[in-house]
Amino acid sequence: MDILGLSAFYHDAAACLLRDGEIVAAASEERFTRKKHDADFPINAVQYCLNEGKVRVDDLAYVGFYEKPFVKFKRILYTHLACYPFSFRPFLKAIPSWMHEKLVIPSVIRQKIGYEGEVLMIEHHLSHAASSYLLSPFKEAAILTVDGVGEWSTATYGRGTANDITLFKEIRFPHSLGLLYSAFTYYLGFKVNSAEYKVMGLAPFGQPTYYDKVRQLIDVRTDGSFHLDMDYFNYLTGLTMTNGKFDQLFGAPARGPDDPLEQRHKDIAASVQRVTDEVMLEMASYIGKETGLRNLCLAGGVALNCVANGKILREGPFDHLFIQPAAGDAGGAIGVASYIHHTLLQKERTFVMHHAFTGPGYTQDEIRDFLTANSIPLTELSREDLLRRVAQLIDEQNVIGWFQGRMEFGPRALGNRSILADARNPENKDRVNLKIKFREGFRPFAPSVLADRCNEYFELNEPSPFMLLVAQVRPDKRVIPSVTHVDGSARVQTVDRESNPLFYDLIAEFDRRTGVPVIINTSFNVRGEPIVCTPADAYRCFVQTGMDHLVLGNYLLDKQQPLPRVETIDWNQTFAPD
Ligand SMILES: [Fe+2]
Repeated sequence: MDILGLSAFYHDAAACLLRDGEIVAAASEERFTRKKHDADFPINAVQYCLNEGKVRVDDLAYVGFYEKPFVKFKRILYTHLACYPFSFRPFLKAIPSWMHEKLVIPSVIRQKIGYEGEVLMIEHHLSHAASSYLLSPFKEAAILTVDGVGEWSTATYGRGTANDITLFKEIRFPHSLGLLYSAFTYYLGFKVNSAEYKVMGLAPFGQPTYYDKVRQLIDVRTDGSFHLDMDYFNYLTGLTMTNGKFDQLFGAPARGPDDPLEQRHKDIAASVQRVTDEVMLEMASYIGKETGLRNLCLAGGVALNCVANGKILREGPFDHLFIQPAAGDAGGAIGVASYIHHTLLQKERTFVMHHAFTGPGYTQDEIRDFLTANSIPLTELSREDLLRRVAQLIDEQNVIGWFQGRMEFGPRALGNRSILADARNPENKDRVNLKIKFREGFRPFAPSVLADRCNEYFELNEPSPFMLLVAQVRPDKRVIPSVTHVDGSARVQTVDRESNPLFYDLIAEFDRRTGVPVIINTSFNVRGEPIVCTPADAYRCFVQTGMDHLVLGNYLLDKQQPLPRVETIDWNQTFAPD
């Protein structure tokens, strides 16, 4: 049975094809259109999923949509009426897209893909919950979903038992931990719904000296539920997140995107991160108490906050966490499809999402065709030679574009569309940030470590295959400075051989040479660009940046050789910084 799951029209549109409960394909629209966080109908992602599954639209049993647009529209309407006349401008801005697309989603789906069957829609947070629990290894688990907002919910507390999910408590708009974090993202001069991870990256450079002021904005109860003091926020009535009263509380107007980053900005980031950690932990602790369960499934945009996740794992009541790799709205596509299959149809759960490699892949022949068609000089290597050579190149301080297998689903590159470098060299942080990714120097990199050696280097006993947990680097292993934050922490990816044998063997080969089973793994893109999808995307990125080598499948390309330039891109024009 084939089910197509869709998420679209807010941010991060995506499609997923589920066959008998297993993910055959899942991908975000941004990777095909090259527009970061593309929210339009994911027509390219749908076509890819159908092709990958070799299925025709007529053969789909169901199409699922990840939220209920009418309920969401009611929320927007009520908010507008409650705040009239102050809400007039945002209401006016929102209304055309509702009239043309969002309120008529089943017909938009039918028209865009020529589908004539049933379209099922479930609540936004139920999609989040399903995307984590139903793909987890657990037969029973507590569930916590936290994001900006869905229809009305901004967080839900739930329990999964066998095939069923009960959401027993919710926090409702406008009180939202995700929107609180986004308000600070805006205030610190970054793009909302896109650059929240920068606030998290900035936090270790500051002291939480604004902690009391942030706590003034949010009243947290013992069950982790909370109220925001809406006097400080503008998102109900204006087109910005914060207002003059907020500026007054924090002593200055919002930072502009090109203004210098000062110590106070770092201190504010540290303060909001600490409050977020505390609220997430309060919520998780309450759910733990209420359900008495030892497993927790997390989803929703805030579940991408790996610092908070790490704190829940260390200090919360749970033995095991499962966090879906596309925890944000893109993952709703797999959530709704799984919910239809497992919960509505009560089909047996046999599939666990062990890896995120569900996107397009390219055969050796396809890669060779691309290279030869563009007269690009290449060296073809056997698997063994390739691993040896690339490990040597990394050891000799080269930066490698690593393009292998099927593309990852979710915002992290996990070893198939990655840029790799030596984590032991402190200079690699600036080098890769400034010369290759053209982004701020403060941004730390994440380490990929052999799963069976993780505990030797990091204070972490749980697998973190999706790079969604932060843990301390062990004091006696601070030999990997370019992936160690100023506070001694790291955003760890554990690599196991079953999920990605080639990437595992590469790190193992690097370990044999150097004695260190850890490398830098950062996403294969430049600032503001979606992660590369095709060999052409990868090649374009390679020739236009300071990368030394590109590996496409078994082909090795060297920047020292004369390389033809394919159609180039003006990064600053094409990809705006977030
Ligand atoms: Fe969401």
